[in-house]
Amino acid sequence: MSEENRFDLAVVGAGPGGTRAAELAAKKGLSVVLFEKDRTGGTCLNVGCIPTKYLLGAAHDLERIRSMTAAGMLRGSGEFSFRAIQRGKDAAVERLRRGEESALDALGVKRISGSAKLLPGKRIECGGTFYSAKNVIIATGSEPVRLNVPGAELMTDSTGMLSPSKVPARLTVIGAGVIGLEFASLYASFNSAVTVVEAVDALFPADLPEAASLLRHELEARGIRFIFGAKAEKLEKTAEGLVLSINTGSERITVTSDALLCAVGRRPVCDCVTEGCGVEFDRRGGVITDEKMRTKADGIYAVGDVRGGTMLAHAAYADAQIAIADITGEGALPDTNAIPRCVYTDPGYASVGLTPAAAKEKGFDPVLKKTPFSALGMAHASRDTRGACFAVTDKKSGACLGFFLVGTGVHELIDVCAFAVSNGWKREDWERHIAAHPTLSEMIRDTALR
Ligand code: NAI
Repeated sequence: MSEENRFDLAVVGAGPGGTRAAELAAKKGLSVVLFEKDRTGGTCLNVGCIPTKYLLGAAHDLERIRSMTAAGMLRGSGEFSFRAIQRGKDAAVERLRRGEESALDALGVKRISGSAKLLPGKRIECGGTFYSAKNVIIATGSEPVRLNVPGAELMTDSTGMLSPSKVPARLTVIGAGVIGLEFASLYASFNSAVTVVEAVDALFPADLPEAASLLRHELEARGIRFIFGAKAEKLEKTAEGLVLSINTGSERITVTSDALLCAVGRRPVCDCVTEGCGVEFDRRGGVITDEKMRTKADGIYAVGDVRGGTMLAHAAYADAQIAIADITGEGALPDTNAIPRCVYTDPGYASVGLTPAAAKEKGFDPVLKKTPFSALGMAHASRDTRGACFAVTDKKSGACLGFFLVGTGVHELIDVCAFAVSNGWKREDWERHIAAHPTLSEMIRDTALR
């Protein structure tokens, strides 16, 4: 093998986990080759976080215009062009992709376009060329889970719902998880009549029930219909539209719509690993790693969704940081106990840390505190008083254990919450802290000090 095909690090997959790992390694002076079979940026940039947030941002702006019009502050029809919004979204994604590729090039990362195969001995084949590396990182991501019911081929996944030719008049969403709710929220703003069908009995059963039911209430107030405890059984195309048959346990009902989004989870994708590499998988297909992101094969790591754990871009960033710290022997480790979770609905949802139930299990004596947005000057000044901040603190030590927020802009507010949970902020820490007034963020301090 020629010298130019030997690298310190080979990364397979250029999504958030892979690109972050490549950048961190290159900044530490390692020679890095990065393989990508599709587009730089992976699911997050191309068909996930960024394009959905663009559409959700436009949807939120539209709702603001409508509320101002309803209040007589603005005169206008509130009409929109879905096509122009789509063009804006595509241009933003394109700009960001070019930026990411330039950043990788500037760091000297060798980008290879093609489908890579990981062979035994940390060798990689891509497009008929062979490469070798001292260390390899698998960062090949995940794909949507498909429902195994008759008519499943008529369903659309999240990628399809990003760029439909037109807004469906009636949309049914299967799965009230993060993807299902974000699409339900944005299409409701674009005037679709939205029904969400969810298998379990409540929204976010592992989260704080008070916050999850407040979000449900706000989404219902916007006209989104929920059917809980319901399993999809089959989908048929009829003259009236797509007819979904669902079973609620007590009855069988049908919901008719023009488009059907299936959002029942994602599963790891790892078809790049060939026989004999020594990498092992769990029963859901996720690559098994230890806490340093090492797989069972020496010198081979895995980061991000392909591990099948927390499928979030920023969790993948954290995994990449941990793997590169292990490979190079330098760098601080992120606190994976304080990973924020955000749902960009309107209003939004964001949380970090422990619920009271989880805190109790860990031996804490949790106290739940609440501040409604309606108690805030800034919420009134910005004409949106929906939502609340919930804080979980420990009665004995006063340390912050968790935060659960519903409201507009909460995905920005969760950062200070993650900081407080990660650092175990207590009463005296918040007393020292000065929050600007008027802001929404002063609510975090107020709630923690309650
Ligand atoms: P999810 O796991 O969050 O939610 C899937 C939902 O579908 C669950 O509530 C489940 O009970 C329900 N379900 C499963 N089978 C069903 C059935 N047969 N009938 C009705 N309901 C059924 O998965 P989702 O929303 O597809 O998201 C996938 C991943 O992508 C998640 O890990 C999520 O965190 C990540 N993601 C994160 C975003 C963010 O951070 N804002 C945005 C989009 C995705």
